[in-house]
Amino acid sequence: MIQSDPRILPASAENIALAGESIRQGGLVAFPTETVYGLGADATNEQSVAQIFAAKERPRFTPLIIHFAATQAAAQAVDFNALADELAETFWPGALTLVLPRRRDCAVSFLAGAGLDTLAVRVPNHPVAQALINEAACPIAAPSANRSGTVSPTTAAHVAENLPGVTVVLDGGACPLGIESTVIDLTDEFPVLLRPGGVTREEVETLTGPLAKPEFAGQASKSPGTRDRHYAPGLPLRLNAESARSGEALLGFGPGAPKDAANLSPTGDIVEAAANLFALIRALDRPEFRAIAVMPVPETGLGAAINDRLRRAAAQYGDRREP
Ligand code: TXA
Ligand code: MG
Repeated sequence: MIQSDPRILPASAENIALAGESIRQGGLVAFPTETVYGLGADATNEQSVAQIFAAKERPRFTPLIIHFAATQAAAQAVDFNALADELAETFWPGALTLVLPRRRDCAVSFLAGAGLDTLAVRVPNHPVAQALINEAACPIAAPSANRSGTVSPTTAAHVAENLPGVTVVLDGGACPLGIESTVIDLTDEFPVLLRPGGVTREEVETLTGPLAKPEFAGQASKSPGTRDRHYAPGLPLRLNAESARSGEALLGFGPGAPKDAANLSPTGDIVEAAANLFALIRALDRPEFRAIAVMPVPETGLGAAINDRLRRAAAQYGDRREP
């Protein structure tokens, strides 16, 4: 007899209700969508979102897709334009993700959006995903439920094998599409195909006209050679600082940091530090300072992603051509 994995729960109404409660309490739940299995958390809870990155062992903070039960709910997080309305009307619920500007009052965690002013949103077309979002009563941030760099899972067993740390996998059978959603960026002058996926380019182009490739879009010229977009602070970052110099804001880590410094985690908890990273950089990115001095963050666990992000932010300033 094959021993069943206790973490895999059949997607009964009762288990979906329990899973929704777990998400509300800050937990992680892997769940099926029509594309692939996602690893979900309350998108408005920075700590829970940080746990997603920890579980996936992501070496970097890439922005996550935020899942909503309906278009009206997504419209509370991002600003829809006429084209977005049409695409949502035609393809949602479904395997299309739209990148749109974050609303000023958007409740979604900055870490989930990798600190960007834009957010990727989607309404999945799978009864279990729909029921889970409704039970959780919050938007769900969910990347594919695999360890970073491995293939996306299309069954509950794939998730359990690939993510040993995940405690709840809702089993809704094999994903009908088995390929990730198509990602379209609508924040540029022309719509850009960021990732081909479950909805074909041709289908999207019936509404959008020819889609630009990322390398031809304005955003690519802003960050040549990379499709990873990240929040770029206006102020230069000075890394490995021991203290603030005159005119600098100080971003510390751990109990050793000065009391008056902004602190990623006063107790030295690396997951908490990840949860606070983008929100604190934004808070310190103010014209009264000339730079942000950042104290060392250990390289362990999520520390690698935090330091990757800090180094990129620091390098980006060094590379800037404008005066
Ligand atoms: O089908 C899917 O999309 C699955 C299921 C679970 O919904 N999710 C998924 O998530 O594939 P993930 O995290 O593995 O891929 C998200 C993609 C990445 O390519 C990321 O760069 C892009 O979406 N993305 C997310 N937010 C973005 C943003 N604000 N701007 C540009 N790209 C973004
Ligand atoms: Mg993925």
